[in-house]
Amino acid sequence: MSLVSVVCLGNICRSPMAHMVFQNMINEKGLECEFEIDSAGTEGYNEMCHAGIHRGTKEILRRKGIPFEEHYSRKIRKKDYEYYDYIIAMDKFNLRNMTRFVGDDPQKKVSLLLDHTDCPGDVADPWYTDDFDKTWEDVNRGCRGLLDEIGI
Ligand code: 4NP
Repeated sequence: MSLVSVVCLGNICRSPMAHMVFQNMINEKGLECEFEIDSAGTEGYNEMCHAGIHRGTKEILRRKGIPFEEHYSRKIRKKDYEYYDYIIAMDKFNLRNMTRFVGDDPQKKVSLLLDHTDCPGDVADPWYTDDFDKTWEDVNRGCRGLLDEIGI
């Protein structure tokens, strides 16, 4: 069983998209019993109000036929570091923010999603651009690469 948490800033746009896309890839390969996936934010968006997934992320998941359940934004916790095997950041800023929770990553659990591809970099942030299509492309590339690396 591999435990994976994907992390962005608010846990309403990018990381829930990666969470649902990765879960769907796992399900399509019949590997549900081999993985547990979750997502979180280094800040969390309005966590006290339990913000759901952003409408742009929901729209593209529906358009692409990816089944999903509602997910409520939560902030990453220190104990996540012990629990998860893979902590996957959407961009370098999230990675830096995570040092508060994961220290200097002594167990080498943290990586950038697109580092698992042949074209590393940051997943496009749709917050200011409203361009969820670019995020979709990056997330899919990254999740495929990650699954190729750690899938059994
Ligand atoms: P996410 O998107 O980190 O992909 O969930 C954002 C959500 C909220 C903000 C920025 C990005 N914000 O500035 O409130």
